[in-house]
Amino acid sequence: MPIRTMPTLNVGVLGYAGVARAHLNALKKLPYIFWSTPVRFRLVGIAGRSPSGVEDVARRYGFEYGVTDWRRVVEDPQIELLINCAPNDTHAGPCLAAAALGKHLLCEKPLGRDTGEARRMWDGVRRRPVCHQVSFNYRFIPAVRFARELIQAGEIGEIVHFRMRYTDDSLSDPSTPHTWRQERRRAGSGVVGDLASHVLDLGRFLVGEFRNVCGFSRIVVPRRPARPGARRMKPVDVEDCFVGAVEFATGALGTLEASGCCPGQKNFLTFEANGTRGSLRFNLERLNELEVFRAEPPVRRDRGFKTVLVTDADHPYGGRWWPSGHILGWEHPFVHQLHHLVQAILGNGAVAPLAATFADGYANARVCDAMLLAARTGRRIRV
Ligand SMILES: NC(=O)c1ccc[n+]([C@@H]2O[C@H](COP(=O)([O-])OP(=O)(O)OC[C@H]3O[C@@H](n4cnc5c(N)ncnc54)[C@H](O)[C@@H]3O)[C@@H](O)[C@H]2O)c1
Repeated sequence: MPIRTMPTLNVGVLGYAGVARAHLNALKKLPYIFWSTPVRFRLVGIAGRSPSGVEDVARRYGFEYGVTDWRRVVEDPQIELLINCAPNDTHAGPCLAAAALGKHLLCEKPLGRDTGEARRMWDGVRRRPVCHQVSFNYRFIPAVRFARELIQAGEIGEIVHFRMRYTDDSLSDPSTPHTWRQERRRAGSGVVGDLASHVLDLGRFLVGEFRNVCGFSRIVVPRRPARPGARRMKPVDVEDCFVGAVEFATGALGTLEASGCCPGQKNFLTFEANGTRGSLRFNLERLNELEVFRAEPPVRRDRGFKTVLVTDADHPYGGRWWPSGHILGWEHPFVHQLHHLVQAILGNGAVAPLAATFADGYANARVCDAMLLAARTGRRIRV
């Protein structure tokens, strides 16, 4: 029997280390897990900093070429979708150039280094016939989507509090070398753009817009070795930790903690929503679970939070992977978000509201900048 051929989507990728590996994994997995995926990916070009590294990765994943100049990939007329996993200072240039050439975009967070850059990126795509998505991948965790469904159905009533936290120990050790993340010129900000942006996006996704913010920030380690083991030190000019308080447009009050200085914590992204009729809790280190409390009569002696394993067939993305209880990991939401974007490219639905568009990336940058301004000035800032 002849095998039906599928249309091809030609893909270019910037970056191959760090988070790019999760995107590359998604490009490989999506076509056979989400069967029948209506496209086949052709991995055309990939760009990265090291010539040997990018050549090696091109071979490993099956790209037709690997280069060190991102312009080669962006300007390649064959490429239809650009996945930008480069550092923050290499988001705007390539994305704007690619959008002008009519290419679809999946860009890593934070969209830009600040509100102005994120705004330029949003302006660069809004009137063009391209799909644009920011990789706020945690929106695609089944438990997070389930939390949104419960909140939208009014299951926990009106939200009164929303607590956000993203902490790890990546910056605890002063001998951990300096990278682009410690440089304002390249990163835009420290843990606010790097970590807080994720939970602030979830705040908007689950509760709504922010109205006012205030906060405190601190650089705990002001100088770091220029390279692993080097004696030469480089200054750190972005925050290592941030603590803030927020007011949502709905009136809900919340808190935010983002820090790389929490020994023992690895990827501790948590949120807790307290509503008038119940509460929800989530922790990325246990990403298959959502804790749910319903304050409803009759009051039972075994009252309290119950842990729902969000892997059943009637849960978000249930039945797409394994039988219920056969848990998912950090990499799976990257497959979900790529699937979502491909459907939008094919005209089967829109990127918003389930995924973050560049408009959401811009809105996120405004909140991050308001947080940083609040910490700098000691004032409460209206977003
Ligand atoms: N969504 C997430 O969960 C998540 C997780 C980590 C990082 N990120 C974001 O992804 C981006 C990259 O972070 P990372 O941790 O992977 O960084 P990284 O430093 O580990 O990797 C950066 C990659 O970009 C490449 N690169 C650097 N300069 C380049 C250039 N001029 N042209 C082309 N390629 C270039 C490097 O070769 C490397 O492969 C950042 O914006 C970061 O905020 C998102």
